[in-house]
Amino acid sequence: MTFSTSPAAAGMRTAYAADLATLPAGTPVTICGWVNRVRQHGEHLVFVDVRDHTGIVQCVLGKRDDLRPEYVVQISGEVFPRPEGTENPQIPTGSVEVRDAAVTILSEAEPIPFSLDDRIEVEEATRLRHRYLDLRRERMQRNLRLRAKINSAIRAAMEEQGFVEVETPLLWTPTPEGAREFYVPSRTQPGSFYSLPQSPQIAKQLLMVAGFDRYYQIARCLRDEDLRSDRQFEFTQLDMEASFIGQEDVHRFISNAMEKVVAAVFGGRKVEIGKITWREAMGSYGSDKPDRRFGHPLIDVTGVLAKTAVRALSAPHVAALVDPDPSSLSRARLDQLVERARALGAKGLLWIKVTGEGDGYSISSPVAKLLEPAEVEQLLKQTGAGDGDVILLVADEWERAVTTLGQIRLERGRHLADREELDLLWVVDFPLFEGLDEQGKPISAHHPFTMPNEEDLDLLETDPLSVRSQSYDLVLNGWELGSGSIRIHRADIQRRVFSALGIDEETADSRFGFLLDAFRYGAPPHGGFAFGIDRLAALLAGETNIREIIAYPKTQSGVDLMTRAPKRLDAATLAPLGITVQPARQG
Ligand code: AMO
Repeated sequence: MTFSTSPAAAGMRTAYAADLATLPAGTPVTICGWVNRVRQHGEHLVFVDVRDHTGIVQCVLGKRDDLRPEYVVQISGEVFPRPEGTENPQIPTGSVEVRDAAVTILSEAEPIPFSLDDRIEVEEATRLRHRYLDLRRERMQRNLRLRAKINSAIRAAMEEQGFVEVETPLLWTPTPEGAREFYVPSRTQPGSFYSLPQSPQIAKQLLMVAGFDRYYQIARCLRDEDLRSDRQFEFTQLDMEASFIGQEDVHRFISNAMEKVVAAVFGGRKVEIGKITWREAMGSYGSDKPDRRFGHPLIDVTGVLAKTAVRALSAPHVAALVDPDPSSLSRARLDQLVERARALGAKGLLWIKVTGEGDGYSISSPVAKLLEPAEVEQLLKQTGAGDGDVILLVADEWERAVTTLGQIRLERGRHLADREELDLLWVVDFPLFEGLDEQGKPISAHHPFTMPNEEDLDLLETDPLSVRSQSYDLVLNGWELGSGSIRIHRADIQRRVFSALGIDEETADSRFGFLLDAFRYGAPPHGGFAFGIDRLAALLAGETNIREIIAYPKTQSGVDLMTRAPKRLDAATLAPLGITVQPARQG
Protein backbone atom coordinates (compact mmCIF):
# COMPACT_ATOMS: atom_id res chain seq x y z
CA MET A 1 0.00 0.00 0.00
CA THR A 2 1.27 3.49 -0.71
CA PHE A 3 0.06 6.54 1.15
CA SER A 4 0.99 10.17 1.27
CA THR A 5 3.25 11.00 4.17
CA SER A 6 3.08 14.74 3.74
CA PRO A 7 0.01 16.73 2.88
CA ALA A 8 1.82 18.23 -0.09
CA ALA A 9 3.12 14.94 -1.49
CA ALA A 10 0.85 13.48 -4.11
CA GLY A 11 0.92 12.44 -7.72
CA MET A 12 3.90 10.24 -8.48
CA ARG A 13 5.41 10.45 -4.98
CA THR A 14 4.32 9.69 -1.44
CA ALA A 15 6.89 11.87 0.30
CA TYR A 16 9.43 14.61 -0.11
CA ALA A 17 13.02 14.20 1.02
CA ALA A 18 12.44 16.39 4.06
CA ASP A 19 9.52 14.22 5.25
CA LEU A 20 11.58 11.04 5.56
CA ALA A 21 13.29 11.71 8.88
CA THR A 22 9.88 11.95 10.56
CA LEU A 23 8.67 8.51 9.41
CA PRO A 24 8.78 5.24 11.38
CA ALA A 25 11.48 2.79 10.27
CA GLY A 26 10.26 0.51 7.53
CA THR A 27 7.65 2.89 6.08
CA PRO A 28 7.33 2.29 2.34
CA VAL A 29 7.96 5.49 0.38
CA THR A 30 8.16 6.71 -3.19
CA ILE A 31 10.16 9.83 -3.86
CA CYS A 32 10.85 11.71 -7.09
CA GLY A 33 13.68 14.00 -8.04
CA TRP A 34 17.09 14.39 -9.63
CA VAL A 35 20.11 12.16 -9.15
CA ASN A 36 22.57 14.29 -7.24
CA ARG A 37 25.39 11.75 -6.98
CA VAL A 38 25.99 8.06 -7.61
CA ARG A 39 28.55 6.04 -5.64
CA GLN A 40 29.36 2.44 -6.37
CA HIS A 41 30.07 0.53 -3.19
CA GLY A 42 31.80 -2.71 -4.07
CA GLU A 43 30.23 -5.03 -6.65
CA HIS A 44 26.64 -5.12 -5.56
CA LEU A 45 25.75 -1.92 -3.82
CA VAL A 46 25.01 1.51 -5.22
CA PHE A 47 24.31 4.66 -3.23
CA VAL A 48 22.24 7.19 -5.10
CA ASP A 49 21.61 10.64 -3.62
CA VAL A 50 18.29 11.91 -4.88
CA ARG A 51 17.47 15.61 -4.67
CA ASP A 52 14.13 17.34 -4.56
CA HIS A 53 13.49 20.93 -3.51
CA THR A 54 13.26 19.94 0.15
CA GLY A 55 16.60 18.17 0.42
CA ILE A 56 18.80 15.27 -0.59
CA VAL A 57 18.18 11.69 0.44
CA GLN A 58 20.47 8.72 0.21
CA CYS A 59 18.98 5.64 -1.48
CA VAL A 60 20.62 2.23 -1.33
CA LEU A 61 20.10 -0.14 -4.21
CA GLY A 62 21.52 -3.28 -5.73
CA LYS A 63 23.84 -3.35 -8.73
CA ARG A 64 22.93 -0.72 -11.30
CA ASP A 65 25.20 1.13 -13.68
CA ASP A 66 22.86 3.26 -15.82
CA LEU A 67 22.23 6.17 -13.41
CA ARG A 68 23.95 9.49 -14.03
CA PRO A 69 23.82 12.88 -12.28
CA GLU A 70 20.71 14.93 -13.06
CA TYR A 71 18.70 11.96 -14.34
CA VAL A 72 15.11 12.35 -13.22
CA VAL A 73 14.04 9.34 -11.20
CA GLN A 74 11.25 7.88 -9.18
CA ILE A 75 12.52 5.70 -6.34
CA SER A 76 10.47 3.37 -4.17
CA GLY A 77 11.78 1.64 -1.08
CA GLU A 78 11.58 1.65 2.68
CA VAL A 79 12.89 4.37 4.91
CA PHE A 80 15.30 3.43 7.73
CA PRO A 81 17.68 5.25 10.05
CA ARG A 82 21.21 5.10 8.67
CA PRO A 83 23.54 2.63 10.40
CA GLU A 84 25.35 4.17 13.35
CA GLY A 85 28.39 6.15 12.31
CA THR A 86 27.20 6.69 8.73
CA GLU A 87 24.82 9.59 9.44
CA ASN A 88 25.52 12.89 7.78
CA PRO A 89 24.83 15.65 10.32
CA GLN A 90 25.54 18.30 7.66
CA ILE A 91 22.11 17.85 6.06
CA PRO A 92 18.68 17.59 7.71
CA THR A 93 17.92 14.38 5.80
CA GLY A 94 21.27 12.86 6.80
CA SER A 95 19.92 10.56 9.50
CA VAL A 96 17.84 8.33 7.19
CA GLU A 97 18.11 6.44 3.95
CA VAL A 98 15.79 4.60 1.59
CA ARG A 99 16.69 0.92 1.35
CA ASP A 100 15.94 -1.79 -1.20
CA ALA A 101 15.22 1.00 -3.58
CA ALA A 102 13.75 0.34 -7.00
CA VAL A 103 14.48 3.07 -9.52
CA THR A 104 12.48 4.16 -12.54
CA ILE A 105 14.27 6.57 -14.85
CA LEU A 106 11.76 9.23 -15.89
CA SER A 107 14.18 11.34 -17.91
CA GLU A 108 17.84 11.11 -18.85
CA ALA A 109 20.26 14.05 -18.70
CA GLU A 110 23.40 14.97 -20.55
CA PRO A 111 26.35 16.01 -18.39
CA ILE A 112 25.50 19.54 -17.17
CA PRO A 113 27.81 22.46 -17.94
CA PHE A 114 28.55 23.46 -14.34
CA SER A 115 28.41 22.13 -10.83
CA LEU A 116 25.25 22.75 -8.81
CA ASP A 117 27.26 22.79 -5.60
CA ASP A 118 26.78 26.24 -4.03
CA ARG A 119 30.33 26.18 -2.74
CA ILE A 120 31.70 26.21 -6.26
CA GLU A 121 31.91 29.62 -7.92
CA VAL A 122 30.51 29.58 -11.46
CA GLU A 123 30.82 32.40 -13.98
CA GLU A 124 27.58 34.37 -14.00
CA ALA A 125 27.18 34.30 -17.78
CA THR A 126 27.23 30.49 -17.68
CA ARG A 127 24.67 30.47 -14.90
CA LEU A 128 22.37 32.86 -16.75
CA ARG A 129 22.67 31.00 -20.06
CA HIS A 130 21.38 27.88 -18.33
CA ARG A 131 19.25 29.59 -15.72
CA TYR A 132 16.93 26.55 -15.40
CA LEU A 133 19.97 24.60 -14.13
CA ASP A 134 21.23 27.45 -11.99
CA LEU A 135 17.81 27.63 -10.34
CA ARG A 136 18.21 23.98 -9.28
CA ARG A 137 20.93 25.11 -6.87
CA GLU A 138 20.03 25.29 -3.22
CA ARG A 139 20.88 28.99 -2.98
CA MET A 140 18.56 29.93 -5.82
CA GLN A 141 15.76 27.68 -4.60
CA ARG A 142 16.09 29.28 -1.19
CA ASN A 143 16.15 32.81 -2.61
CA LEU A 144 13.09 32.48 -4.84
CA ARG A 145 11.14 30.73 -2.12
CA LEU A 146 12.09 33.49 0.32
CA ARG A 147 10.80 36.00 -2.17
CA ALA A 148 7.50 34.12 -2.41
CA LYS A 149 7.24 34.22 1.38
CA ILE A 150 7.79 37.97 1.33
CA ASN A 151 5.05 38.47 -1.27
CA SER A 152 2.67 36.36 0.70
CA ALA A 153 3.39 38.23 3.96
CA ILE A 154 2.89 41.56 2.18
CA ARG A 155 -0.45 40.44 0.77
CA ALA A 156 -1.62 39.30 4.20
CA ALA A 157 -0.51 42.55 5.86
CA MET A 158 -2.11 44.80 3.28
CA GLU A 159 -5.37 42.89 3.27
CA GLU A 160 -5.53 42.89 7.05
CA GLN A 161 -5.30 46.68 6.87
CA GLY A 162 -8.21 46.93 4.46
CA PHE A 163 -6.30 47.33 1.20
CA VAL A 164 -7.80 45.94 -1.97
CA GLU A 165 -5.65 44.54 -4.78
CA VAL A 166 -6.29 46.12 -8.15
CA GLU A 167 -4.32 45.29 -11.30
CA THR A 168 -3.37 48.28 -13.42
CA PRO A 169 -2.38 48.19 -17.11
CA LEU A 170 1.04 47.38 -18.50
CA LEU A 171 0.14 49.01 -21.82
CA TRP A 172 -0.03 52.53 -20.54
CA THR A 173 0.90 56.13 -21.27
CA PRO A 174 4.10 57.99 -20.33
CA THR A 175 4.49 58.78 -16.61
CA PRO A 176 7.14 61.30 -15.63
CA GLU A 177 9.08 59.49 -12.94
CA GLY A 178 12.56 60.29 -14.06
CA ALA A 179 13.54 57.21 -16.06
CA ARG A 180 13.50 56.55 -19.78
CA GLU A 181 10.51 54.44 -20.78
CA PHE A 182 9.95 51.33 -22.86
CA TYR A 183 7.56 51.73 -25.74
CA VAL A 184 5.30 49.17 -27.38
CA PRO A 185 4.08 49.79 -30.92
CA SER A 186 0.37 49.61 -31.65
CA ARG A 187 -0.69 47.41 -34.58
CA THR A 188 -4.19 48.83 -34.75
CA GLN A 189 -2.85 52.39 -34.80
CA PRO A 190 0.44 52.12 -36.68
CA GLY A 191 2.89 54.81 -35.65
CA SER A 192 1.40 55.10 -32.15
CA PHE A 193 2.96 53.62 -29.03
CA TYR A 194 2.03 52.54 -25.55
CA SER A 195 4.46 53.15 -22.70
CA LEU A 196 5.20 50.44 -20.21
CA PRO A 197 4.59 51.91 -16.75
CA GLN A 198 7.52 53.11 -14.65
CA SER A 199 5.12 52.48 -11.80
CA PRO A 200 1.33 52.51 -11.40
CA GLN A 201 1.62 56.06 -9.99
CA ILE A 202 -1.12 57.83 -11.94
CA ALA A 203 -3.32 54.75 -12.18
CA LYS A 204 -3.36 54.38 -8.40
CA GLN A 205 -4.12 58.03 -7.83
CA LEU A 206 -7.08 57.69 -10.17
CA LEU A 207 -8.26 54.71 -8.10
CA MET A 208 -8.41 57.10 -5.16
CA VAL A 209 -10.54 59.50 -7.21
CA ALA A 210 -12.65 56.44 -8.00
CA GLY A 211 -13.29 55.85 -4.30
CA PHE A 212 -11.29 52.64 -3.72
CA ASP A 213 -9.99 54.20 -0.50
CA ARG A 214 -7.10 51.74 0.01
CA TYR A 215 -5.37 50.11 -2.95
CA TYR A 216 -2.35 47.85 -3.20
CA GLN A 217 -0.67 45.82 -5.87
CA ILE A 218 2.43 43.68 -6.20
CA ALA A 219 3.20 45.56 -9.37
CA ARG A 220 5.64 45.00 -12.20
CA CYS A 221 7.35 48.23 -13.22
CA LEU A 222 9.54 48.91 -16.23
CA ARG A 223 12.29 51.49 -16.62
CA ASP A 224 14.85 51.74 -19.37
CA GLU A 225 17.74 52.82 -17.17
CA ASP A 226 21.36 51.76 -16.78
CA LEU A 227 21.48 48.48 -14.93
CA ARG A 228 23.35 48.11 -11.65
CA SER A 229 23.44 45.69 -8.77
CA ASP A 230 20.20 47.15 -7.41
CA ARG A 231 18.50 47.93 -10.72
CA GLN A 232 16.83 45.89 -13.44
CA PHE A 233 14.71 47.02 -16.38
CA GLU A 234 11.71 45.25 -14.89
CA PHE A 235 11.24 44.98 -11.20
CA THR A 236 8.48 44.54 -8.67
CA GLN A 237 7.07 46.96 -6.15
CA LEU A 238 4.66 46.74 -3.33
CA ASP A 239 2.62 49.70 -4.52
CA MET A 240 -0.04 51.24 -2.29
CA GLU A 241 -2.23 54.30 -2.02
CA ALA A 242 -4.83 55.44 0.51
CA SER A 243 -7.31 58.28 0.84
CA PHE A 244 -8.06 60.62 3.75
CA ILE A 245 -4.76 59.81 5.46
CA GLY A 246 -1.56 61.62 6.43
CA GLN A 247 2.11 60.76 6.31
CA GLU A 248 2.07 58.99 9.67
CA ASP A 249 -0.69 56.67 8.48
CA VAL A 250 1.32 55.65 5.43
CA HIS A 251 4.32 54.97 7.67
CA ARG A 252 2.17 52.78 9.90
CA PHE A 253 0.76 50.78 6.96
CA ILE A 254 4.26 50.12 5.67
CA SER A 255 5.74 49.39 9.11
CA ASN A 256 3.05 46.79 9.67
CA ALA A 257 3.82 45.17 6.32
CA MET A 258 7.54 45.21 7.06
CA GLU A 259 6.97 43.63 10.45
CA LYS A 260 5.02 40.78 8.86
CA VAL A 261 7.70 40.30 6.22
CA VAL A 262 10.53 40.15 8.75
CA ALA A 263 8.50 37.78 10.96
CA ALA A 264 7.86 35.51 7.96
CA VAL A 265 11.52 35.44 7.02
CA PHE A 266 13.25 35.40 10.39
CA GLY A 267 10.47 34.45 12.81
CA GLY A 268 9.49 36.94 15.51
CA ARG A 269 12.33 39.45 15.01
CA LYS A 270 11.26 42.94 16.04
CA VAL A 271 11.25 45.70 13.47
CA GLU A 272 11.89 49.25 14.47
CA ILE A 273 11.99 51.97 11.88
CA GLY A 274 13.90 55.10 12.85
CA LYS A 275 13.17 58.52 11.38
CA ILE A 276 15.37 61.43 10.29
CA THR A 277 14.86 64.41 8.06
CA TRP A 278 16.48 64.63 4.65
CA ARG A 279 18.61 67.52 5.90
CA GLU A 280 19.87 65.51 8.88
CA ALA A 281 20.55 62.50 6.67
CA MET A 282 22.56 64.61 4.25
CA GLY A 283 24.36 66.49 7.02
CA SER A 284 25.27 63.39 9.04
CA TYR A 285 25.83 60.83 6.31
CA GLY A 286 26.12 62.83 3.09
CA SER A 287 23.40 60.68 1.59
CA ASP A 288 19.62 60.52 1.43
CA LYS A 289 19.98 56.76 1.95
CA PRO A 290 22.33 56.53 4.90
CA ASP A 291 23.91 53.31 6.03
CA ARG A 292 24.13 53.91 9.76
CA ARG A 293 25.27 50.44 10.74
CA PHE A 294 28.91 51.35 11.24
CA GLY A 295 28.41 54.69 13.00
CA HIS A 296 30.96 57.43 12.28
CA PRO A 297 28.57 60.19 11.17
CA LEU A 298 29.90 63.34 9.55
CA ILE A 299 30.34 66.31 11.85
CA ASP A 300 29.80 69.93 10.90
CA VAL A 301 32.98 71.79 11.94
CA THR A 302 32.36 74.91 9.87
CA GLY A 303 32.16 77.05 13.02
CA VAL A 304 35.47 75.79 14.40
CA LEU A 305 37.29 76.77 11.23
CA ALA A 306 35.49 80.05 10.54
CA LYS A 307 38.69 82.08 10.86
CA THR A 308 41.24 79.50 9.80
CA ALA A 309 44.44 80.43 8.03
CA VAL A 310 44.16 77.24 5.96
CA ARG A 311 42.89 78.51 2.62
CA ALA A 312 41.64 75.09 1.56
CA LEU A 313 39.37 75.04 4.59
CA SER A 314 37.73 78.40 4.14
CA ALA A 315 34.49 77.40 2.48
CA PRO A 316 30.77 77.72 3.20
CA HIS A 317 30.81 74.27 4.84
CA VAL A 318 33.44 72.03 6.38
CA ALA A 319 32.47 68.44 7.02
CA ALA A 320 34.59 66.18 9.22
CA LEU A 321 34.77 62.41 9.49
CA VAL A 322 36.68 60.38 12.03
CA ASP A 323 37.90 57.59 9.78
CA PRO A 324 36.20 54.31 10.69
CA ASP A 325 39.27 52.17 10.01
CA PRO A 326 42.34 54.37 10.72
CA SER A 327 44.88 51.56 11.11
CA SER A 328 44.53 50.86 7.38
CA LEU A 329 45.40 54.47 6.45
CA SER A 330 48.97 54.50 5.18
CA ARG A 331 50.41 57.71 3.73
CA ALA A 332 49.82 56.36 0.21
CA ARG A 333 46.24 55.49 1.09
CA LEU A 334 45.67 59.03 2.40
CA ASP A 335 46.94 60.42 -0.90
CA GLN A 336 44.47 58.17 -2.70
CA LEU A 337 41.67 59.55 -0.54
CA VAL A 338 42.56 63.08 -1.63
CA GLU A 339 42.37 61.94 -5.25
CA ARG A 340 39.10 60.17 -4.57
CA ALA A 341 37.58 63.34 -3.10
CA ARG A 342 38.62 65.22 -6.25
CA ALA A 343 37.14 62.53 -8.48
CA LEU A 344 33.90 62.92 -6.54
CA GLY A 345 33.80 66.61 -7.40
CA ALA A 346 35.26 68.29 -4.31
CA LYS A 347 38.34 70.50 -4.41
CA GLY A 348 40.21 68.10 -2.19
CA LEU A 349 40.42 66.52 1.22
CA LEU A 350 42.57 67.31 4.23
CA TRP A 351 43.59 64.82 6.88
CA ILE A 352 44.77 65.18 10.44
CA LYS A 353 46.38 62.25 12.23
CA VAL A 354 46.14 62.32 16.03
CA THR A 355 48.70 60.73 18.33
CA GLY A 356 48.42 60.69 22.12
CA GLU A 357 45.66 61.98 24.41
CA GLY A 358 44.92 64.98 26.64
CA ASP A 359 47.71 67.52 26.92
CA GLY A 360 50.14 65.07 25.38
CA TYR A 361 48.53 64.83 21.97
CA SER A 362 50.22 65.78 18.74
CA ILE A 363 48.97 65.90 15.18
CA SER A 364 50.44 65.29 11.78
CA SER A 365 48.80 66.81 8.71
CA PRO A 366 49.85 68.61 5.54
CA VAL A 367 48.44 71.76 7.17
CA ALA A 368 49.64 71.09 10.74
CA LYS A 369 51.68 74.29 10.83
CA LEU A 370 48.78 76.47 9.73
CA LEU A 371 46.25 75.17 12.23
CA GLU A 372 45.93 77.09 15.50
CA PRO A 373 46.15 74.92 18.66
CA ALA A 374 42.71 76.23 19.67
CA GLU A 375 41.28 75.12 16.35
CA VAL A 376 42.79 71.65 16.72
CA GLU A 377 41.50 71.35 20.27
CA GLN A 378 37.99 72.32 19.16
CA LEU A 379 38.21 69.86 16.28
CA LEU A 380 39.19 67.05 18.64
CA LYS A 381 36.42 68.01 21.02
CA GLN A 382 33.69 68.18 18.37
CA THR A 383 34.72 65.03 16.56
CA GLY A 384 35.66 63.05 19.66
CA ALA A 385 38.86 61.97 17.90
CA GLY A 386 41.65 60.58 20.08
CA ASP A 387 44.90 58.66 19.94
CA GLY A 388 45.33 56.81 16.65
CA ASP A 389 42.40 58.50 14.91
CA VAL A 390 42.49 60.23 11.57
CA ILE A 391 40.14 63.14 10.91
CA LEU A 392 39.17 63.68 7.27
CA LEU A 393 37.93 67.14 6.25
CA VAL A 394 36.15 68.28 3.10
CA ALA A 395 35.41 71.97 2.64
CA ASP A 396 33.03 73.13 -0.07
CA GLU A 397 29.44 74.14 -0.71
CA TRP A 398 27.29 72.26 1.83
CA GLU A 399 25.87 69.64 -0.52
CA ARG A 400 29.16 68.91 -2.28
CA ALA A 401 31.11 68.74 1.00
CA VAL A 402 28.70 66.32 2.66
CA THR A 403 28.06 64.11 -0.37
CA THR A 404 31.78 63.76 -1.09
CA LEU A 405 32.72 62.93 2.48
CA GLY A 406 29.59 60.79 2.80
CA GLN A 407 30.72 58.65 -0.14
CA ILE A 408 34.21 58.37 1.34
CA ARG A 409 32.68 57.39 4.66
CA LEU A 410 30.84 54.56 2.93
CA GLU A 411 33.90 53.36 1.08
CA ARG A 412 35.99 53.46 4.27
CA GLY A 413 33.46 51.88 6.61
CA ARG A 414 30.98 49.71 4.77
CA HIS A 415 33.01 46.56 5.40
CA LEU A 416 32.64 47.14 9.14
CA ALA A 417 28.82 47.00 9.06
CA ASP A 418 27.19 44.09 10.85
CA ARG A 419 25.70 42.01 8.04
CA GLU A 420 23.01 40.60 10.30
CA GLU A 421 21.68 44.02 11.32
CA LEU A 422 18.54 45.41 9.69
CA ASP A 423 18.71 49.18 9.88
CA LEU A 424 15.38 50.52 8.65
CA LEU A 425 14.95 54.25 8.50
CA TRP A 426 12.38 56.77 7.32
CA VAL A 427 13.92 59.79 5.65
CA VAL A 428 11.32 62.59 5.69
CA ASP A 429 10.94 66.21 4.58
CA PHE A 430 12.62 65.88 1.20
CA PRO A 431 12.84 69.04 -0.83
CA LEU A 432 10.27 69.13 -3.65
CA PHE A 433 13.02 69.65 -6.22
CA GLU A 434 16.51 68.23 -6.01
CA GLY A 435 18.35 70.69 -8.23
CA LEU A 436 18.28 72.21 -11.69
CA ASP A 437 18.72 70.53 -15.06
CA GLU A 438 20.93 71.86 -17.87
CA GLN A 439 18.21 74.27 -18.91
CA GLY A 440 17.94 75.60 -15.35
CA LYS A 441 14.59 73.91 -14.69
CA PRO A 442 13.95 72.22 -11.34
CA ILE A 443 14.06 68.40 -11.22
CA SER A 444 11.49 66.61 -9.06
CA ALA A 445 13.09 64.92 -6.07
CA HIS A 446 10.39 62.24 -6.24
CA HIS A 447 7.86 62.87 -8.97
CA PRO A 448 5.64 65.76 -10.02
CA PHE A 449 2.61 64.47 -8.12
CA THR A 450 4.14 65.13 -4.70
CA MET A 451 2.37 67.71 -2.55
CA PRO A 452 4.52 70.70 -1.61
CA ASN A 453 4.42 71.74 2.04
CA GLU A 454 1.40 73.96 2.42
CA GLU A 455 3.42 76.84 3.92
CA ASP A 456 5.94 76.73 1.05
CA LEU A 457 3.37 76.95 -1.74
CA ASP A 458 4.13 80.61 -2.35
CA LEU A 459 7.78 79.80 -3.03
CA LEU A 460 6.90 77.57 -6.00
CA GLU A 461 7.32 80.41 -8.47
CA THR A 462 9.89 82.52 -6.60
CA ASP A 463 12.31 80.10 -4.95
CA PRO A 464 11.41 76.57 -6.05
CA LEU A 465 14.54 74.92 -4.66
CA SER A 466 13.59 75.85 -1.12
CA VAL A 467 10.12 74.29 -1.32
CA ARG A 468 9.84 71.33 1.02
CA SER A 469 7.57 68.45 0.23
CA GLN A 470 5.47 65.88 1.95
CA SER A 471 7.54 62.99 0.76
CA TYR A 472 9.51 60.25 2.44
CA ASP A 473 11.84 57.39 1.65
CA LEU A 474 12.36 54.11 3.42
CA VAL A 475 16.00 53.07 3.66
CA LEU A 476 17.34 49.66 4.60
CA ASN A 477 21.06 49.23 5.28
CA GLY A 478 21.94 52.07 2.94
CA TRP A 479 19.69 50.98 0.08
CA GLU A 480 16.70 53.06 -0.96
CA LEU A 481 13.96 50.55 -0.45
CA GLY A 482 10.99 52.71 -1.25
CA SER A 483 9.51 56.11 -1.56
CA GLY A 484 6.20 57.85 -1.34
CA SER A 485 4.41 61.05 -0.62
CA ILE A 486 1.20 62.83 0.10
CA ARG A 487 -0.06 63.77 -3.36
CA ILE A 488 -1.44 66.82 -4.99
CA HIS A 489 -5.20 66.36 -5.32
CA ARG A 490 -6.03 69.80 -6.70
CA ALA A 491 -5.72 70.65 -10.37
CA ASP A 492 -4.57 74.23 -9.65
CA ILE A 493 -1.60 73.10 -7.52
CA GLN A 494 -0.77 70.34 -9.98
CA ARG A 495 -0.67 72.89 -12.79
CA ARG A 496 1.63 75.14 -10.76
CA VAL A 497 4.03 72.27 -10.12
CA PHE A 498 3.99 71.26 -13.79
CA SER A 499 4.69 74.86 -14.67
CA ALA A 500 7.60 75.08 -12.16
CA LEU A 501 9.01 71.95 -13.83
CA GLY A 502 8.84 73.69 -17.19
CA ILE A 503 5.89 71.64 -18.48
CA ASP A 504 3.72 74.18 -20.27
CA GLU A 505 -0.05 74.16 -20.11
CA GLU A 506 -0.49 72.61 -23.53
CA THR A 507 1.94 69.77 -22.81
CA ALA A 508 0.36 69.23 -19.41
CA ASP A 509 -3.05 68.93 -21.03
CA SER A 510 -1.93 66.61 -23.78
CA ARG A 511 0.07 64.32 -21.48
CA PHE A 512 -1.81 64.45 -18.21
CA GLY A 513 -5.15 65.98 -19.16
CA PHE A 514 -6.90 62.84 -17.91
CA LEU A 515 -5.41 63.34 -14.43
CA LEU A 516 -6.16 67.05 -14.32
CA ASP A 517 -9.70 66.28 -15.52
CA ALA A 518 -10.14 63.70 -12.79
CA PHE A 519 -9.19 66.28 -10.15
CA ARG A 520 -12.16 68.37 -11.32
CA TYR A 521 -14.63 65.72 -10.21
CA GLY A 522 -14.00 65.33 -6.51
CA ALA A 523 -10.52 64.03 -5.67
CA PRO A 524 -9.95 63.01 -2.05
CA PRO A 525 -6.71 63.95 -0.28
CA HIS A 526 -4.49 60.92 -0.70
CA GLY A 527 -0.98 59.59 -0.42
CA GLY A 528 0.95 56.40 -0.75
CA PHE A 529 4.16 54.56 -1.10
CA ALA A 530 6.01 51.90 -3.05
CA PHE A 531 8.95 49.74 -2.10
CA GLY A 532 11.09 47.52 -4.25
CA ILE A 533 10.49 43.86 -3.52
CA ASP A 534 13.63 42.83 -5.43
CA ARG A 535 15.77 45.01 -3.20
CA LEU A 536 14.03 43.90 -0.03
CA ALA A 537 14.34 40.22 -0.96
CA ALA A 538 18.02 40.63 -1.86
CA LEU A 539 18.82 42.34 1.44
CA LEU A 540 16.89 39.78 3.49
CA ALA A 541 18.53 36.93 1.59
CA GLY A 542 21.98 38.43 2.23
CA GLU A 543 22.59 38.94 -1.49
CA THR A 544 24.35 41.98 -2.91
CA ASN A 545 22.82 41.86 -6.40
CA ILE A 546 19.10 41.75 -7.13
CA ARG A 547 19.78 39.34 -10.02
CA GLU A 548 20.16 36.65 -7.36
CA ILE A 549 16.54 36.89 -6.31
CA ILE A 550 15.02 37.25 -9.79
CA ALA A 551 14.22 34.08 -11.72
CA TYR A 552 15.21 35.36 -15.16
CA PRO A 553 17.17 38.60 -14.86
CA LYS A 554 18.92 40.61 -17.55
CA THR A 555 22.67 41.08 -17.64
CA GLN A 556 24.29 44.44 -17.07
CA SER A 557 23.95 45.13 -20.80
CA GLY A 558 20.25 44.31 -20.74
CA VAL A 559 20.37 40.90 -22.39
CA ASP A 560 18.60 37.73 -21.37
CA LEU A 561 21.38 35.24 -22.02
CA MET A 562 19.02 32.29 -21.96
CA THR A 563 16.44 33.44 -24.52
CA ARG A 564 18.87 35.84 -26.25
CA ALA A 565 16.28 38.64 -26.04
CA PRO A 566 16.19 41.35 -27.26
CA LYS A 567 16.10 40.09 -30.83
CA ARG A 568 15.80 41.69 -34.21
CA LEU A 569 12.44 41.32 -35.93
CA ASP A 570 12.07 40.83 -39.66
CA ALA A 571 10.54 43.42 -41.93
CA ALA A 572 7.37 41.37 -42.44
CA THR A 573 6.68 41.38 -38.70
CA LEU A 574 7.37 45.08 -38.37
CA ALA A 575 5.45 46.31 -41.42
CA PRO A 576 1.96 46.15 -39.83
CA LEU A 577 3.32 48.18 -36.93
CA GLY A 578 4.40 50.93 -39.29
CA ILE A 579 8.03 50.42 -38.29
CA THR A 580 11.13 50.06 -40.41
CA VAL A 581 14.47 49.39 -38.80
CA GLN A 582 17.79 50.62 -40.06
CA PRO A 583 20.40 47.94 -40.72
CA ALA A 584 22.35 46.95 -37.60
CA ARG A 585 25.39 49.12 -37.01
CA GLN A 586 28.62 47.20 -37.18
CA GLY A 587 30.34 46.83 -33.79
P1 AMO B 1 10.37 55.05 -6.87
O1 AMO B 1 10.71 55.47 -8.23
O2 AMO B 1 11.20 55.58 -5.74
O3 AMO B 1 8.88 55.43 -6.49
O4 AMO B 1 10.41 53.47 -6.79
C1 AMO B 1 10.08 52.79 -5.60
C2 AMO B 1 11.08 51.68 -5.34
O5 AMO B 1 11.16 50.78 -6.44
C3 AMO B 1 12.46 50.23 -6.48
N1 AMO B 1 13.06 50.47 -7.80
C4 AMO B 1 13.78 49.55 -8.48
N2 AMO B 1 14.12 48.30 -8.17
C5 AMO B 1 14.84 47.61 -9.07
N3 AMO B 1 15.21 48.11 -10.27
C6 AMO B 1 14.89 49.37 -10.63
N4 AMO B 1 15.24 49.82 -11.83
C7 AMO B 1 14.14 50.15 -9.71
N5 AMO B 1 13.66 51.41 -9.73
C8 AMO B 1 13.01 51.58 -8.57
C9 AMO B 1 13.28 50.90 -5.42
C10 AMO B 1 12.50 52.17 -5.20
O6 AMO B 1 12.72 52.71 -3.94
N6 AMO B 1 5.54 55.81 -7.88
C11 AMO B 1 6.57 55.99 -6.86
C12 AMO B 1 6.12 55.55 -5.50
C13 AMO B 1 5.10 56.44 -4.86
O7 AMO B 1 5.31 57.67 -4.83
O8 AMO B 1 4.10 55.90 -4.35
C14 AMO B 1 7.80 55.19 -7.27
O9 AMO B 1 7.77 54.35 -8.15
O10 AMO B 1 13.29 50.08 -4.28
